[in-house]
Amino acid sequence: MENRIATEIAGLKLANPTMLAAGILGYTGLSMKSVIEAGAGAVVTKTMGLEPRTGYPNPTVVQTNCGLLNAMGLPNPGIRHFKEELNKLKNTRAPTILSIYGSSPEEFANVAEIAVNIGADALELNVSCPHVKKAGAEIGCDPLLLAEIVKEVKKRVDIPVIVKLTPNVANIGEIAKSAEEAGADAITAVNTVKAMAIEIETCRPILANKFGGLSGPAIKPIAVRCVYDVYRSVNVPVIGCGGITSWQDAVEFMLAGASAVQIGTAVAFKGVGVFNSVAKGIQDYLERKGFKNVKELVGLAHKF
Ligand SMILES: Cc1cc2nc3c(=O)[nH]c(=O)nc-3n(C[C@H](O)[C@H](O)[C@H](O)COP(=O)(O)O)c2cc1C
Repeated sequence: MENRIATEIAGLKLANPTMLAAGILGYTGLSMKSVIEAGAGAVVTKTMGLEPRTGYPNPTVVQTNCGLLNAMGLPNPGIRHFKEELNKLKNTRAPTILSIYGSSPEEFANVAEIAVNIGADALELNVSCPHVKKAGAEIGCDPLLLAEIVKEVKKRVDIPVIVKLTPNVANIGEIAKSAEEAGADAITAVNTVKAMAIEIETCRPILANKFGGLSGPAIKPIAVRCVYDVYRSVNVPVIGCGGITSWQDAVEFMLAGASAVQIGTAVAFKGVGVFNSVAKGIQDYLERKGFKNVKELVGLAHKF
């Protein structure tokens, strides 16, 4: 069978356009290895910062009837301690994208430099976490600060730099443009949608942090619209993320303008087999519709 799903994004070669989204199974080398062996085209790690961080107290995750609501607070061992985990991914066939955060352009650039030294193939800048003050969506809502961060990181590293955006803004295209002009090599759209849940017997917000980020199928139409907007605004590749559970969802994101897709919550509900089933479904769709390569799908919905 002719391989129609192998692709390339910002110089990264992918066996197929599926990726593990940040924060789901991206804590250890072995868990990411299992995702690659299950068929993912690339993996994104849990977001790492300069120093270890414990995250928020429990409860940090709530299952709602339309998706997962989380406010983990970016728990991570600190980027230096992640070297050992990345070593376990050497000689795997899929690129490892290290997700990073910082509280200033300088800190972002310092973390980025360490990420390169410990073996990252590319970086994803998390400027979009909806529940972490001074390091998350506050940056992703401010095009000038975002541009400063991207410029500082690009000065210090020469691997691809992907910027992951928040959907919680009025004009995501404008933010994406600002990241592109500052040198971003690709844009991931999107992180979770800011949300909350309240327990009616105790009358209290359920998450310890009160607010969190909604993920899963509930946010898919929001994410598709964001990808569509970003694709119209920039010339760098867009990576779609938000509520993808099937190959049909992945194709929809590609028609909106995504060159690849990230899968998060569906891995928690369906297991790692989701990567192979999405990749195979895209391959079959391309054959049935007579497309020679997955790249031919990207942005087709913009013709109408
Ligand atoms: C439990 C959990 C932890 C997450 N941690 C991170 C993270 O560390 N960094 C990040 O950029 N996104 C993080 N995300 C967001 C996901 O990467 C993704 O953008 C979002 O969940 C939407 O995709 P999905 O609907 O496929 O899950 C997390 C999501 C969940 C559910």
